[in-house]
Amino acid sequence: MNKQELIEGAKAVLNSNFNEDKGFTIPCEGLYPFQWHWDSGFIAIGFAHYDIEKAKCEIESLLSGQWDNGFIPHIVFHNESDTYFPGPDYHRSDLHPASPKPVKTTGITQPPVLGFVLKEIYDIASNKQDILKFIKRNIDKIYQNHTHFYTHRDPYNEGLVYIYHNWESGTDNSPIWDEIWQTMNPPKYKYERKDTTHVDASQRPTNREYDCYLHLLEIAKAHNYDEGKIAELSPFLVQDPLFNAILIKSNEALIELYQIIGGNNNKIEILKSWQDKAKTRFEEKLFNEELGSYVYYDLRNDKQIAYATSSSFTPLFAGIPNKERANKLVDSLIQNFGSEDLFLCASFDPKSEHYNPVKYWRGPVWINLNWLIYRGLKRYGYLEIAKRLKQETINYIELHGFYEYFDARKDQFENAAYGGKNFSWSAALTLDLLNE
Ligand code: GLC
Repeated sequence: MNKQELIEGAKAVLNSNFNEDKGFTIPCEGLYPFQWHWDSGFIAIGFAHYDIEKAKCEIESLLSGQWDNGFIPHIVFHNESDTYFPGPDYHRSDLHPASPKPVKTTGITQPPVLGFVLKEIYDIASNKQDILKFIKRNIDKIYQNHTHFYTHRDPYNEGLVYIYHNWESGTDNSPIWDEIWQTMNPPKYKYERKDTTHVDASQRPTNREYDCYLHLLEIAKAHNYDEGKIAELSPFLVQDPLFNAILIKSNEALIELYQIIGGNNNKIEILKSWQDKAKTRFEEKLFNEELGSYVYYDLRNDKQIAYATSSSFTPLFAGIPNKERANKLVDSLIQNFGSEDLFLCASFDPKSEHYNPVKYWRGPVWINLNWLIYRGLKRYGYLEIAKRLKQETINYIELHGFYEYFDARKDQFENAAYGGKNFSWSAALTLDLLNE
């Protein structure tokens, strides 16, 4: 496939996943039939390259699900669908007084991409006047979302926020959570899995894992999604390097955009104070010297979760490490994830016993993580490895199409494609890479 064909293919995926009626894009037919938070952010970047109105529409439809307290949920249920569990009747966002009335949502969130997405769209848009109008209309909502995080998700005032559910991480089925599942003893709930009707069960979480996921939601629902109660009671309370790097990058983007808009000095000062605190603590708390990588921190049990994952490299995207630490990090990327037999970048340490090359988030390559790492490598000037990462990402799509995730092993390249087909963010971010 030549470059133009790839671009046309990516647009076709996005256009066919766009719901004209409701003005948002599903991640993928069947498997993910609603609007997902961070998916929509990446999707909007893709649209910005050829249909800026759709990019705006994507973001505003997501924000229509924002709660009065600033919280932005991980799914907005604009439409009905029976191909996904758990749906709106399970999540019951209405339990929280600040949830929106006209639309149902979940009561958990996802990596806060919207800040940096606004800046990406601003950079891509040819009509800056017009896009600034859109940004002015929405930027405060994102600022309020960050305020909500630092007010409710940062109990020790460290500048690092926690997530209370693996579905908040975006890396849903990572081995990172395994130890936490072992500390839990969830009831055996009665429900019908839908994911395993779309994708082979061997690539999806087990039923016990699903019971843990639901149990966390049951705890939150029993307290009407009260953040204070969740912090007190949830067995899952994790400071995630990917989530926090994205928040920090989004803070940075909000500062840049407020400066372009003018005024707003108060907000800029507050954003800068968050940044200073967050970056300092990130460096102190989330780096593991032995691994030469950033890691997750289990706040409930007060310890690092010492594994390298693709998330470990995303602090580069947010400009967090100094040059010396960045060198160390990139060395570990090349040595552990970039050896001769592997394409970049496996989602979990390929040398670990927990690595599974085909199971979702336990090893396969994801296009959005590759995109974040690519941007990070470029930001720091690691151009050679960045170029390799970009090329290997495009190679997957060229051979297989816009799948959800891919096997990192070079000798499996012919059969590397997994998960959902015609997956929106794979299309959107390929468009962005090709339009560079
Ligand atoms: C899966 C992914 C999550 C994504 C969602 C919709 O659950 O783990 O990151 O947002 O699918 O694509």
